[in-house]
Amino acid sequence: MTAPTDETAEAPEVKTPPIGKLERPDNLATTLDVSTMVDPDGGLVDRGIFTEEAVYKQEMKRIFARSWLFLAHEDQFKRPGDFFQTFMGEDPILVSMNRKKEIKAFLNSCRHRGARVCRADFGTTKNFTCTYHGWSFDLDGNLANVPNEYAYGEGFDKKDWGLVEVPNVQSYKGLIFGNWDPNAIPLEDALGDLRWYLDAFIDRDPEGTTVVGGVMKWVLDGNWKLAAEQFATDWYHVNMSHASALMVMSPTGRGPKKEIAERPGKQFVSPNGHGAGFPVHERNRFDNSVVHDYYDYDALRERLGDKRVTGPMTNGHATVFPSFSYLPVNGSIRVWHPKGPNKMEVWAWTVLDKSMPEEVREAQRLHNLRTFGPSGIFEQDDGENWSECQAIAGGFITNRVALNYQMGIGTEKEDPDYPGTTSELFSDAAGRSFYRKWRELMSTPAWHEKEGN
Ligand code: FES
Ligand SMILES: [Fe+2]
Repeated sequence: MTAPTDETAEAPEVKTPPIGKLERPDNLATTLDVSTMVDPDGGLVDRGIFTEEAVYKQEMKRIFARSWLFLAHEDQFKRPGDFFQTFMGEDPILVSMNRKKEIKAFLNSCRHRGARVCRADFGTTKNFTCTYHGWSFDLDGNLANVPNEYAYGEGFDKKDWGLVEVPNVQSYKGLIFGNWDPNAIPLEDALGDLRWYLDAFIDRDPEGTTVVGGVMKWVLDGNWKLAAEQFATDWYHVNMSHASALMVMSPTGRGPKKEIAERPGKQFVSPNGHGAGFPVHERNRFDNSVVHDYYDYDALRERLGDKRVTGPMTNGHATVFPSFSYLPVNGSIRVWHPKGPNKMEVWAWTVLDKSMPEEVREAQRLHNLRTFGPSGIFEQDDGENWSECQAIAGGFITNRVALNYQMGIGTEKEDPDYPGTTSELFSDAAGRSFYRKWRELMSTPAWHEKEGN
């Protein structure tokens, strides 16, 4: 088929369609009142929030469509055309660097019939060409080329059919987050006081952090919240769940180091749903001896202050609400991608200080792999627990029996040594706060539910 060449022929009238936007009936997805399914004051959680499809769908709409979600590390983008494919909730997202070296994020779905315009996990490209009919998009998401474009007639304008861009993409010290909400509060404000704790991991080095070893991905049977809340609030499981791993790592091989099993610590409790826990000890040190020997602890005290070096700098766990977590001593950052109420996909990176020489990088990479890689001695314990809890949660009676999040009720307080609200190491306080935020978002209409969106 060739293009019509008769310039005088009258073009048929083409009605310009609404630009990728049609009216949806309000009741297409029923909104549930889930406010009674969690009780953050009394410390109770209904297991239906882990199993019900309708609750899960509402999470996509009211939590993932308006929260800051981790996309990638800046180090993954060095030159124009570098891209990385990920998800925000279940939406496929293409993160890429344009010619001006700006990092942008787009919905990875062709505006024609909806196929992904890029199917590679990561790489470098000049443009994204959909393999279904060949629409091609440039690095700014503009529709640049349409095969047989003449067939659309005159009313068709490529400008109207670019990739849907994530309106907010912001970085915090190398960590790139995206948010669909056009009125989202800035990322730094959303992180709030957690930044002080997070900096103990990603701001140890004036040069910043880098990523090594690619992205590890694995699938777990279990609701995404089981992992996210555990990393926010649960040091409690460490001594029991990880007993064998701690034994392996103890100098005698006979049992976990007493100082690990019994040491006191703190938990940070964010009103935005984030949480972090860490032991507090004068001799907090990196477990790996090569990494331990590399660090100048006096310099770290100078940079981060005593309280961070004896607290959140090494051991500990944290979650940035809703689904991004990290482990400073291991150098692990991870996203719990939701894949239905009963399944999650874990994506994990190894992040370490840019100034580290090669042998220290390798030691830290291996340490992370051995402890919190997909077959890491700690990681396997955690995944097994989440799958165990999920496997039986759908039982009719089981599902109706509420779960206990009452540890440390009333221990939340302000502490002059630590920003924000804190609780004790063994506490569910950050878990209660996680579910308080969850309930708040699940109970209030999101930006896209308001008129005009
Ligand atoms: S679906 Fe992409 S070009 Fe048709
Ligand atoms: Fe664990």
